[in-house]
Amino acid sequence: MRLITDPGELASLGPCVFVPTMGALHDGHAALIRIGVAEAERRGLSGGCVVSIFVNPTQFNDFADFEKYPRTMDADLLACEGSGASAVFAPSVEAVYPPGEAASEVVLPPVATAPGLEDRFRPGHFEGVYRVVRRLFELVKPVAAVFGEKDWQQLRVISAMVEREGLGVEIVPGETVREAGGLAMSSRNKHLGPEDREAALSLSRALCAAGREGDPAEAERVMEAMMREAGAEPEYAVVRDAETLLSIGAGHAGPARALVAARVGTTRLLDNAPWPSVGFGVGAAAL
Ligand code: PAF
Repeated sequence: MRLITDPGELASLGPCVFVPTMGALHDGHAALIRIGVAEAERRGLSGGCVVSIFVNPTQFNDFADFEKYPRTMDADLLACEGSGASAVFAPSVEAVYPPGEAASEVVLPPVATAPGLEDRFRPGHFEGVYRVVRRLFELVKPVAAVFGEKDWQQLRVISAMVEREGLGVEIVPGETVREAGGLAMSSRNKHLGPEDREAALSLSRALCAAGREGDPAEAERVMEAMMREAGAEPEYAVVRDAETLLSIGAGHAGPARALVAARVGTTRLLDNAPWPSVGFGVGAAAL
């Protein structure tokens, strides 16, 4: 596996599947990399699966959160190699955002500003994600890229960006990987203490309970109540159209998604699931 820091070296890799990350890799990332490796093999791409590790400063609306973000490069490189990546691209901030170069304009697709979701609680976050992913695509030039369903709104924003800008990168979704008990894997789980466990588990439990409700408004009420009862502070607990992320009524036709975000102590957690549904598969036995 190659470690590349200079974008000029990327050209020698050949066509590839790309998995962008901010490092602090866990089994959820490993699953995304394995999807990337399988996709590259299936398409006969000589560049294999390229993983980027870059903690993107422009997507943090809180500098303390950026500083606190776990950085575990040595372990990350081992995880990439163990999952079959052909190369890791770990650029400097200057390589991604060259000093003196004007920031490219970002006009967010409507799904990024769907009312009451990430934009309300993390203003500016999707501008940063949009900028960095577009820039990484420009540097890596992938044929396809893998994004986790755990960040459902991000997945929708990136799909809309690719379509709108005609970037010609196929977006491949990767299912959320869960710990036993249902907690969605996240780099932020490292900040949870044993005393936070019940509150953290309440997000996936709430999604499961909501999946059994037939009415979106009732499903939202149930999710909010379950999270509060367990000690989490919900930011949102909603059922939305799975693609536009706009509110839906009782007779909604087409795929819908339940999405939750909550603070557990000082840690912000996100999760989502298809709605209605009866469980997650992984970890569902414990729910
Ligand atoms: O999902 C993430 O880890 C980040 O938002 C991404 C896509 C790597 C962009 O920095």
